[in-house]
Amino acid sequence: MKKILVVNGPNLGLLGTREPAIYGTVTLADIVAAVRQAAEAKGVHVDAVQSDVEGELVRAILSSRGAYDGVILNPAAFTHTSVALHDAIKACETPVVEVHLSNVYAREGYRHESLTACACRGQICGFGKEGYLLALEALLALY
Ligand code: DQA
Repeated sequence: MKKILVVNGPNLGLLGTREPAIYGTVTLADIVAAVRQAAEAKGVHVDAVQSDVEGELVRAILSSRGAYDGVILNPAAFTHTSVALHDAIKACETPVVEVHLSNVYAREGYRHESLTACACRGQICGFGKEGYLLALEALLALY
């Protein structure tokens, strides 16, 4: 059975009530449930992790090595700052798709640079919850 790990970074635990004009009203639980439902329909197992702590995100990404067939990763603000997450994505050797709910390129200049996307297989941004489902499709299409 194929396995996908969904990793969400800081402040994403507050989705639903956090800046709804930008991120919408969908909760993280809704997003994970939608990914899980779509995956299970294809016989794929999904695990999900959310942390506000950079080191825990590093550990989650590294835990995918040899254990998961793909990672859907929203590194949130660490996208723009974290060499450690970049290195973990490289080190895990699992295909990783970076997802952002918002179109980061249409926002503040400091969100235009991603230190993590270049370590990933690809990036999807600006489609809200749908982005996670697109990332699932993209990962499964690799096999
Ligand atoms: C985000 C975009 C990041 O710039 C921001 O720091 C987030 C969420 C998104 O999903 O649109 O926390 O990753």
